[in-house]
Amino acid sequence: MSKIDFPTAKANVEKLQAYKPNFGKSKINSLIRLSANESALGASVNAVEVLKSFSKDLNRYPPQVSEELISAISRRYSLDKKKIILGNGSDELISILAQTFLNHNDEAIYTEFGFLQFPQAISIAGAKGVVAKDVNFTANVDNILLKINKNTKIIFLANPNNPTGTFISRQEVIRLLEAIPPNILLVYDAAYSEFVVHDDYMDGSELLEKYENVIMLRTFSKLHGLASLRLGWGYASENIIDNLMKVRSPFSVNAAAILAGIAALEDLEFQKISVQHNLKWKSWFEKELTLLNLDFQPSITNFLLIKFTSKNKYSAENAEKFLASRGILVRGMKVYGLPNHLRVSIGTDYENIKFVEELKTFLEK
Ligand SMILES: Cc1ncc(COP(=O)(O)O)c(C=O)c1O
Repeated sequence: MSKIDFPTAKANVEKLQAYKPNFGKSKINSLIRLSANESALGASVNAVEVLKSFSKDLNRYPPQVSEELISAISRRYSLDKKKIILGNGSDELISILAQTFLNHNDEAIYTEFGFLQFPQAISIAGAKGVVAKDVNFTANVDNILLKINKNTKIIFLANPNNPTGTFISRQEVIRLLEAIPPNILLVYDAAYSEFVVHDDYMDGSELLEKYENVIMLRTFSKLHGLASLRLGWGYASENIIDNLMKVRSPFSVNAAAILAGIAALEDLEFQKISVQHNLKWKSWFEKELTLLNLDFQPSITNFLLIKFTSKNKYSAENAEKFLASRGILVRGMKVYGLPNHLRVSIGTDYENIKFVEELKTFLEK
């Protein structure tokens, strides 16, 4: 047997790739970043203001559980305070869900073009990820149900989904929950729910009234524009929250995030303006992309998944490179198994116009 003389990570970690966002080269100041589904309008000025005077008690740990922020979430969304857990971004909550619930022989289902952190978290926990095929770039309840067996412990579902921007209806979510055994946990990731204006959509909070085996995840990184502070939250039964708190890093939510989060939640005007901006520019994008003969998925989020031809000159990869050369960052989708697609966030007025202008230049080359 050969001797290993350096520390090796767990085999399931060794074979993973670290998450690589497309943030471009930091030295270019004027980059237009449409690659990370961030808020187009920045953050609420109220949040910015509270942070300007944030200098007190830097030597102190933040509260382990911020009653103030939890109360603010509970007031804003009319939810039961006892069922709320805060996290260092919803990413942290996804990881600790996998660590808390998955044993080595367990399986966790995620959807074909679902959020990449799901398979990552499952693998790190040492469990087996099982893919349920999408239909038309949309999660499919029947395909998820087909993958359930006695080892299934979690179903991860982002609704709406990143990177497709598509969603499944309230009826389909309920059909899924009605069909799965109560020992399987549905992780219902509603990161983009605050952007959604659609009668058939549900953000998942009401599911807790009837089902114990569900956790809804939310984030301050998208509509609230606080991605840099890393703040997310979950809504689940007290038993689930208690167990997650044993695994969560004790002080993972920092004091600046708590202050800004409360201020952001209270700024209803900023939230309204952001949703309106998104709706207006999303339909503008759809018109422009149609004029350019580009295919895209109908999105209820703040980003669009655009299809390019597989022909080399006008491929997604070349479009991404061309746009980057013009200072515009978009997200290549090869890592998601969609090499002919790019995901583009809706930006400011200027950024959107500039993106379409440069895209036209690329297609006319
Ligand atoms: C579906 C989905 N869930 C969760 C997250 C992570 O959000 P956070 O910034 O709160 O970690 C993202 C971020 O892009 C996302 O797209």
